[in-house]
Amino acid sequence: MHLSDKKATLSFSDGSAPIDFPVYQGTVGPDVIDIRKLYGQTGMFTYDPGFMATAACESAITFIDGDKGQLLYRGYPIDQLATNCDFMDVSYLILNGDLPNAAQKTEFDSLVTHHTMVHEQLHFFLRGFRRDAHPMAVLTGLVGAMAAFYHDSTDITNPRHREVSAIRLIAKMPTLVAMAYKFSQGQPSIYPQNNLSYTGNFVRMMFANPCEDYQVNEVVERALDRIFILHADHEQNASTSTVRLCGSSGTNPFAAIAAGVACLWGPAHGGANEACLQMLEHLQANGGVEKVGEFMQQVKDKTSGVRLMGFGHRVYKNYDPRAKLMQQTCKEVLAALGLEKDPLFKLAMELERIALEDPYFVERKLYPNVDFYSGIVQRAIGIPTSLFTAIFALARTVGWIAQWNEMLSDPDYKIGRPRQLYTGSAVRDVAKRR
Ligand code: CMC
Repeated sequence: MHLSDKKATLSFSDGSAPIDFPVYQGTVGPDVIDIRKLYGQTGMFTYDPGFMATAACESAITFIDGDKGQLLYRGYPIDQLATNCDFMDVSYLILNGDLPNAAQKTEFDSLVTHHTMVHEQLHFFLRGFRRDAHPMAVLTGLVGAMAAFYHDSTDITNPRHREVSAIRLIAKMPTLVAMAYKFSQGQPSIYPQNNLSYTGNFVRMMFANPCEDYQVNEVVERALDRIFILHADHEQNASTSTVRLCGSSGTNPFAAIAAGVACLWGPAHGGANEACLQMLEHLQANGGVEKVGEFMQQVKDKTSGVRLMGFGHRVYKNYDPRAKLMQQTCKEVLAALGLEKDPLFKLAMELERIALEDPYFVERKLYPNVDFYSGIVQRAIGIPTSLFTAIFALARTVGWIAQWNEMLSDPDYKIGRPRQLYTGSAVRDVAKRR
């Protein structure tokens, strides 16, 4: 970051002396006011619940321009990456800062492929769960448990440990997600197969069974690979900030990523894809396109507690660029699988059409986000709704690790410790009780 010529001056209405703060500039995007000395100089904190105006760190990984609807990974626009690269290219890019050349790609693919198998004992650990457990509950447990199974890569001060744990997490996530799915179906886990791509291997572990040969459908593989690319990173969102905050205590990467998985589960974050598909299914079962108008009235009525899931975003105040790509993938997948007449897709298109014209959504700048169409794609592929967020977690793992690594290498890195505006009782005495 660069120190700007500009400075920010804070003045007070009670006549106290004004204070200057340095202003820093990034490559693009808003400048930041460095308020680290604010408390020392004034005895006051800033108040920003939900971090509406707080840059919690410096980062060179992902950039979002919410007004333009732009998303860049390491400077590259998401649409160019989604149409020219595969998920392994993008993972390498996010981790290392640049796209791999041919030799680097081969080496990276091989490294990841040769870490996809999990410790056999993890299968026994999995068996302790109920078969009807939510996959995100299982995944949070499995990822946290990796610290016990791969203790030899938990020393965060050792660069080799950090590297190995990063590759282990990226490589084993698809295996763990597929294991959680197979377990819920009462089927045996399918071991990874090294001649397949990262995404092809995941498809096989999800849908093959030990009794017959399985051929990976290329349409399905490509669509999932795109889903992975679109979800790979998204700067300082809730789960990434959770990984950073958790990791800032010096805990091991498996524990930090497990915290990220837990955070992602919420319906305002990664859980929105599951909630969105449930919303579409509910609407379809209760009148479908005919009832869209009525449903929209409910969405706009603040007392109803109903939100249009898959719409709105804290940062995007324009069309989420990932949603555009996802809508295109949705059309391609449905056509390739002979599902062009899918009623949920029609319903989603109608909801989108109405919302984009309705003053309620227009005034609040609410547009479809990535989750609006991703559920329809996943459902068409055969992925059960309850697994959607686990797939998001699989894809986001690379982003979480890159952000965690970046934090550890930052000379300004400190344990994260927000303060508060205390409004509880002032000091009081406990009355004599006996
Ligand atoms: N349906 C109806 N009204 C909405 C919606 C929605 N989906 N989203 C926001 N609003 C309204 C909200 O009621 C508020 O209205 P008012 O100003 O009159 O009080 C205004 O728009 C601003 O909303 P907010 O909740 O203050 O905005 P936020 O930045 O805190 O929340 C959000 C962002 C994503 C949590 C929210 O838009 C939402 O709940 N969307 C539905 C869930 C969803 O799709 N989440 C996925 C996010 S993208 C995937 C990811 O990155 O995890």
